[in-house]
Amino acid sequence: MSSIPNNPVAAILPTPADPRTIGDVLGSVLAMAAPDRALGLSPELYEYLVAHGTPPDAVYEAIRADTLAEAPDAAGMQIGPEQYALMTLLVRLVGVDLAVEVGTFTGSSSVAIASGLRPGGRLICCDVSDEWTRIARRHWRAAGLEDRIELRLGPALDTLRALPDEPLVDFAFIDADKAGYVDYYEALVPRLRPGGLLLVDNVLWKGRVVDPDDHDERTEAIRRFNAHARADERVDRVMLPVGDGLTLCRKR
Ligand SMILES: C[S@@+](CC[C@H](N)C(=O)[O-])C[C@H]1O[C@@H](n2cnc3c(N)ncnc32)[C@H](O)[C@@H]1O
Repeated sequence: MSSIPNNPVAAILPTPADPRTIGDVLGSVLAMAAPDRALGLSPELYEYLVAHGTPPDAVYEAIRADTLAEAPDAAGMQIGPEQYALMTLLVRLVGVDLAVEVGTFTGSSSVAIASGLRPGGRLICCDVSDEWTRIARRHWRAAGLEDRIELRLGPALDTLRALPDEPLVDFAFIDADKAGYVDYYEALVPRLRPGGLLLVDNVLWKGRVVDPDDHDERTEAIRRFNAHARADERVDRVMLPVGDGLTLCRKR
């Protein structure tokens, strides 16, 4: 194999002087190929976990394929299949007539939410990208979900602040620019009904939140958000190692 010119696999195979086994090397290749695996799980354990949850449906697979083809550099922003299953399950558990999503991208999480709504339920999606959400809209149409999803293009904070002040929202999901997290949370919590659920994505930020040398703007923004939520008495809260870290807040 190592004789094949420009073969990227050959370049990382162990040499006789290298203490790694082929198994070690294949493990790291699989890890690179599965960027959305849960934090700290081996690729094998992650695959096992996904295989034992509700399998991702055809809509999720189609969005994933189109995102890889049309927005390959940003495809890592999509939620993984286990988070997709979890979100639909939570929406069904809560009983949702009105949901709000901040950060729609190509549509994976919006479909997870919209599929679990009660009959007649609505999802308001906030995003700034016409290009990325065009892919989402195509899949909403194909899946027969477009009548229950309303896309509001523009800065999410403007959209959220324009919503009625009453606590009418049953379920919300924050997954957009990290600098905006505290403001999105503050706009959403008062609008959540008691018993309503707010999910916040990327709260462990690939583990970077606990790296004392990491002062990247987005890492600091996530830390700021996590500290803010931690001090909030209006919600019950749990932080889960799902995907890149997911905080669940239930309004008291
Ligand atoms: C991580 S992606 C969302 C991924 C999506 N939830 C999914 O599962 O595929 C973040 C999205 O937030 C959007 N975004 C960034 N800044 C925003 C803002 N100020 N207002 C609304 N959306 C914003 C981006 O355009 C992008 O589509």
